[in-house]
Amino acid sequence: MNPDLGRLYPYPFERLNALKAAAPAPDPALEHISLSIGEPRHAPPGFVVEALTRALPTGLGAYPVSRGLARLREAAAGWLERRYRLGPGALDPDTQVLPVNGTREALFSFAQAVVTRQQDARVAMPNPFYQIYEGAALLAGATPLYLDCTEDNGFVPDFEQVPAETWRQVQLLYLCSPGNPTGEVIPAATLARVLALADEHDFVIAADECYAEIYLDESAPPPGLLEVCRQLGRDDYRRVVVFHSLSKRSNLPGLRSGFVAGDADILHEYALYRTYHGCAVPNATQLASAEAWDDDAHVAANRALYREKFDAVVPLLSPWLALRRPPAGFYLWPRVAGDDTAVAAALWSECHLTVLPGSFLARDTAAGNPGQGRLRLSLVAEPGACIEAAQRIRDWCAHHGHRTVAA
Ligand SMILES: Cc1ncc(COP(=O)(O)O)c(C=O)c1O
Repeated sequence: MNPDLGRLYPYPFERLNALKAAAPAPDPALEHISLSIGEPRHAPPGFVVEALTRALPTGLGAYPVSRGLARLREAAAGWLERRYRLGPGALDPDTQVLPVNGTREALFSFAQAVVTRQQDARVAMPNPFYQIYEGAALLAGATPLYLDCTEDNGFVPDFEQVPAETWRQVQLLYLCSPGNPTGEVIPAATLARVLALADEHDFVIAADECYAEIYLDESAPPPGLLEVCRQLGRDDYRRVVVFHSLSKRSNLPGLRSGFVAGDADILHEYALYRTYHGCAVPNATQLASAEAWDDDAHVAANRALYREKFDAVVPLLSPWLALRRPPAGFYLWPRVAGDDTAVAAALWSECHLTVLPGSFLARDTAAGNPGQGRLRLSLVAEPGACIEAAQRIRDWCAHHGHRTVAA
């Protein structure tokens, strides 16, 4: 077997299950509430379900092709142009857009296509991170370079701190904006700086923007990397590929549908990789996805639901736990006192809540583990369940005198 498989870390949820199994069992009379998973639970749009059902009979009878259907590529390009005010014709749907089966597989396979197996190959990524970036780097034969996101740097990696000789080893940089788990948005000026670094040190940027449509201020949509490219007159999106998904935007995590867009030369090679990998998106999925990308109204309604939950939950927790209402995403990233795994275990045993210890989402660097002392609380459940969970955490904090803010 490939020895690099042995370099993979256990997935955070495996570690969480082990933590819960070792902790005292909770009271079964108390209904379990999960705040650990990043799986949207709002209803999928009915018109997409109908479109999928309509497309199935013909869709099932044909092999899909890796390049995907023009209908979907055009819808994706149209959405990008609307969402990021790129202007009409800013993207060529034939060469600059490629459908994928959700961003997870694409984020993984992209590294396999990009990284050359040199001894010192490095793949840079935020820390804490979505663990696929790390697994992709390791299985591509590269060494991860973890860029800490902490309160001190506003949860945005300090790209200037990386020495030039390290940048020279970097072949691929994963960005995650809005970030999981922090919900932080990388400012446009920082994205411009990252583009300059990519030119200077010759690396490719994979911008994971799968939370791009989940933001709390309707008047401040997070900037995207293609948008910054356009502002800089970088109309060929050189070195840049962005990753988008319907999972969070349209509550369709089970559809497995997303797309990548950007540099036509890179996508040409990546499409070749995908042809061999055999991961073409089923035609019925593509046709239903095109309808979803064409519509923005259901996405605004989705955002309103998340806003409602943040509005209710943040005031319950903020008198006890240091946290900020993030600009985007559907996570809270509060600071807890002491060991985050001990707090997560206690919330399981005493409150029947599942929360994710922050340290499970990050790796140790010279400055320690940037997830240590934090929890990731995912507000995907119904508003009532999120509020009930927040009340239990508040009561637990009050009972134990557990505070990370001034009384
Ligand atoms: C940061 C980030 N990227 C990518 C994904 C993968 O999403 P999907 O494969 O459903 O598009 C997730 C899912 O939780 C995520 O949190």
